[in-house]
Amino acid sequence: MGKNRRAEQALKDKSVSMSELNRVSLGVSGKTKLKKAKGQQKGKLLRTDQAYGSGRVVEYRLGRRRRLFQITTFCPQALGPGPTNLYLIEDDALILVDTGLSTNMAKELFYFWHNNQSMPAEIEALPDDYSEQELFSAIKLTGRDIKEIDYIFLTHGHIDHYFLGRKIVELSGTKVVAHVSDSDNISNPWTLVKFLFDRWPMFMAMGMPRSKLHERLKESNIAEIDFSLHVDIPLVVDGSVNFQGIQPDSLFIRHFPGHSPGSIAIIVRSDENEEAFMLCGDTLLYPITPHPDDLVAYLRTLRKMRGLDNISLVLPAHGKAIINFQQRINTLERHHRYRLKLTYEACKTPRSIWQIATLPKYFDVYVDPNKFNPLAGQEAMVHAELLQLAGGLRRSHVDGAVHYFQNSGESFEEVYDRVQKIITDEHSTLLLRR
Ligand SMILES: [Fe+2]
Repeated sequence: MGKNRRAEQALKDKSVSMSELNRVSLGVSGKTKLKKAKGQQKGKLLRTDQAYGSGRVVEYRLGRRRRLFQITTFCPQALGPGPTNLYLIEDDALILVDTGLSTNMAKELFYFWHNNQSMPAEIEALPDDYSEQELFSAIKLTGRDIKEIDYIFLTHGHIDHYFLGRKIVELSGTKVVAHVSDSDNISNPWTLVKFLFDRWPMFMAMGMPRSKLHERLKESNIAEIDFSLHVDIPLVVDGSVNFQGIQPDSLFIRHFPGHSPGSIAIIVRSDENEEAFMLCGDTLLYPITPHPDDLVAYLRTLRKMRGLDNISLVLPAHGKAIINFQQRINTLERHHRYRLKLTYEACKTPRSIWQIATLPKYFDVYVDPNKFNPLAGQEAMVHAELLQLAGGLRRSHVDGAVHYFQNSGESFEEVYDRVQKIITDEHSTLLLRR
């Protein structure tokens, strides 16, 4: 049977198709040279933004037969990362990249648990299944049906990317594909609560104000908060995807850790290899900057991404498409260098992580020193950790929190040279926070 006929058969007979997608091959087809991008960068707008900046559907052509759709679903902008971009890829199978988060959980997480902020009336009025409605109606708009989805590829194991997966799996029997390094997050029913409990001592050691989060968790019925997904196909190596023995050149997976341990990018090529789109999850974002979970891994990932010279468009999981991704990488590298410098200079006198995070201008937005804010704390911490690893800072427990201070008073440039060496030395094993 020829490749196309087998692919058509696979699409018709989904039960066979699903059972036979077995693994990502070892083959690295990154050597394939693409012709210069022809510039489909704008795509065709099928549905514009609805209220709250989500609901948009954009179509990109991948040749005569295949299409790629961007579908934007609700996630709060003010307190969260903003609407989540999902992608539907027509290939030898129908693939949904990420699932978004239910509106119900978005309300709970960002307004109640996280910050105990009062919810704007218009957000409160949104139906609990608003994100689902957005996704399902968008898929209909593409001419496909939710039940046709063969695979969910998860760019990483953060809740705003997979918490709606359960519903889709129930409806379509789809298989879930994710990197093994994020599979513990995705498969664990208590991942969210575990994250908050595990990191609680660390937040307190940062000097962050206490919050009533623990009490709120007790008030919630955590036994009912289970959005875990079984990862059917764990990814471990970079390579092409293998559908039922068909290994198209059109899809290629790269492991890009840093934002999370198991972050991946999916590179989608057009039929004639004239275009390559990179669906990068949260690893590159525009205009916001991603939060690294591990700054060393993240900076190494940026360097590796720089080696991809044939990408015509980067489609991230939040915010806008990135046309010049090399330029975006430069900007993100400069951004982290600047934040390392601010951190180093702040530590002329001993400072806790929370004191660093709440310095004026450390973040573009105001961080209230009196409010529990784990993302702000984590961001300052990864920069202080890297400076400590490079020997620029030392730390000690002072006045109820761990404080960082300059080791010898040398210039930032000297410390940054050593930071660069750490990033270059791929063999160094880092055991931060463990
Ligand atoms: Fe994320």
